[in-house]
Amino acid sequence: MIKIDINKAFRSGASEIENELNIAQKCLKQLQDGTGKGNEFLGWIKLPSSITKTEIDDIQKTAVEIRKLSEIVVIVGIGGSYLGARAVIEALTPAFNRQSPEIIYAGHHLDSDYYAQLLQYLKGKKWSIVIISKSGTTTEPAVAFRLLRKAHIEQFGMEQANKLTVAITDKSKGALRRLANENSFKTYIIPDDIGGRYSVLTPVGLLPIAIAGIDIKQLIDGAIEGEKEYNVVNNENQAVIYAAARNKIYSSGKKIEMLVSYHPQLLYFIEWWKQLYGESEGKENKGIFVSGATFTTDLHSLGQYIQQGERHLFETVLSIESVNSKIFPGSDPENIDGLNYLADKNIHQINQTALKATILAHTKGGVPNIVVSIEQLNAFSLGKLIYFFEIACGISGYMLGVNPFDQPGVEDYKVNMFALLGKPGFEKQKEELEKLL
Ligand code: PA5
Repeated sequence: MIKIDINKAFRSGASEIENELNIAQKCLKQLQDGTGKGNEFLGWIKLPSSITKTEIDDIQKTAVEIRKLSEIVVIVGIGGSYLGARAVIEALTPAFNRQSPEIIYAGHHLDSDYYAQLLQYLKGKKWSIVIISKSGTTTEPAVAFRLLRKAHIEQFGMEQANKLTVAITDKSKGALRRLANENSFKTYIIPDDIGGRYSVLTPVGLLPIAIAGIDIKQLIDGAIEGEKEYNVVNNENQAVIYAAARNKIYSSGKKIEMLVSYHPQLLYFIEWWKQLYGESEGKENKGIFVSGATFTTDLHSLGQYIQQGERHLFETVLSIESVNSKIFPGSDPENIDGLNYLADKNIHQINQTALKATILAHTKGGVPNIVVSIEQLNAFSLGKLIYFFEIACGISGYMLGVNPFDQPGVEDYKVNMFALLGKPGFEKQKEELEKLL
């Protein structure tokens, strides 16, 4: 169950956002009817309930094979092609001695030293590649794949390297599709009507998550529950409330939303959320700037700004009500550190108290807080949370009046980069840009 509490955002109660709640419901209806902007990318709405047992079994079978053959699996992708998988994997695998096979990410940046070290690290190990790119032409993963592929073939020979490579891409378009077909990689298709940042519940997320040993059936079941619950058009729908609340706060002048968790394993969930909302809403010179923090860690850095800096922020706090472990600081006869008052309070209680105390402090300091609570962190609740944030993002984008399913602004840096690197076809831009450098 996901509970949303907006009382700390609107102290006098939810009635203040009645108008936004009505608009949010209309936007949900538009999503469902396919009458809004970007309606060719709505495949994610009914995705959870449409995944078949055959598809799940096939993904699980591939995952088992890769696990058997690999000490390391390198997941190559950027943006929506890797963040969802990483969010779930990091949230649900142990903090130490993480997992076997070890999961390593590549293709999400262009840092030379990282790749040099990665190639060195892979030498002599048994490793596989999962390359994910919907367009099949994105530079960062394509460059990483070229480097990795060369090392893979050198180490294993072409035939075995091909067996140790899975490509997840478009059904027919793009260079990756051609490479996959020519080399007979095992492939999975990213549906045409699902954009990168809404694709975690397709093979894009499901295969890496299954390789990490996580129960994808549970994840999908959680998302199915979300699909049922958050498609009800009424003002009790938690996704409608979240979208309405954040838009109301935005229109009151708070331009920055921070997603805050008290659990370091949710760092990449925050990154996934940032990408989902940032790329979906930031266009036409509008949109909430999304940012994130892990407390209490960041209370000792950003905390000062949040409490007393410019008042343009609001927070959405992700609260986990109960955790698996119960450990206590315990009492000490000498009590030199003065912590005996905490002896009988378990660490999670202390963490939850930090959460409550911080909400009180930040709201008093003029930072509205929305609280999204889940009972426990597991594959089911994460699946539901993913669907919750996806549908709320679609509603919210429509409330703002933008197309939440495109990302035209991302092209600008790419064109400049291609031009400056001398990609054929960009000669004129190169000339113009070089004058500016
Ligand atoms: O959400 C999106 O659409 C983007 O973030 C893409 O996922 C990202 O740019 C990677 O694109 P591709 O999968 O085509 O390599």
